[in-house]
Amino acid sequence: MNLKQMAGEKAAEYIEDGMILGLGTGSTVYYTILRIGQMIKEGYDLIGIPTSRKTEELARSLNIPLGRLDDYSYIDLTIDGADEVDPELNLIKGMGGALVREKIVAASSRREIIVVDEAKMVRMLGTRSPLPVEVIPFGTGFVRERLTVLGGSPRVREMNEKIFVTDNGNNILDTVFDGISDPRKLEQDINNLPGVVENGLFLGMADRVIVGHEDGPEIIEK
Ligand code: 5RP
Repeated sequence: MNLKQMAGEKAAEYIEDGMILGLGTGSTVYYTILRIGQMIKEGYDLIGIPTSRKTEELARSLNIPLGRLDDYSYIDLTIDGADEVDPELNLIKGMGGALVREKIVAASSRREIIVVDEAKMVRMLGTRSPLPVEVIPFGTGFVRERLTVLGGSPRVREMNEKIFVTDNGNNILDTVFDGISDPRKLEQDINNLPGVVENGLFLGMADRVIVGHEDGPEIIEK
């Protein structure tokens, strides 16, 4: 059983006709977006706000009508993936490189559903995934140094042996913390560093998490 598919498809059951939808990024929400494509074919009236160029391309290929965030005062529902989920439904996101747009879309949403396979569930954030921090290229060296002072081990993300560049033209520092005991303080400390655009801590933003398990989907509500 594909646990990502199970979680991704289950989330589509929460979509109602007429909704403005935030479309997340990644290999789990991919299955939700495929399902949204089917719903459009079935006659649902939906508008998607994509969180990355990759998701935008996928949505276009499925004829999902797209809108711009600026054109709406809020989004009804966003469905997105995550790299870690803790027992309070706090998240680490951004291993897919879309954390800035994902955070803006999440903050604009009335409800946020997160879809994950069971391997993403952790007791403490920062124990499984590094924390992605998006930085403007000019500040990358400075922020890397300061993240070390904050107790992290940052590494500039690369892809195909080149420095990874986000949809916003920035770099990402994947920062290992070996457990984040005070995520709220760390979020503030990191975002106070000049040059940081955003970090991948999504605290208090998820309303519901759908977890794919071998024996079926689990729904955890805030
Ligand atoms: C992209 C993200 C993704 O949602 C996250 O990396 C999970 O992806 P996947 O579902 O492929 O494991 O935050 O920036």
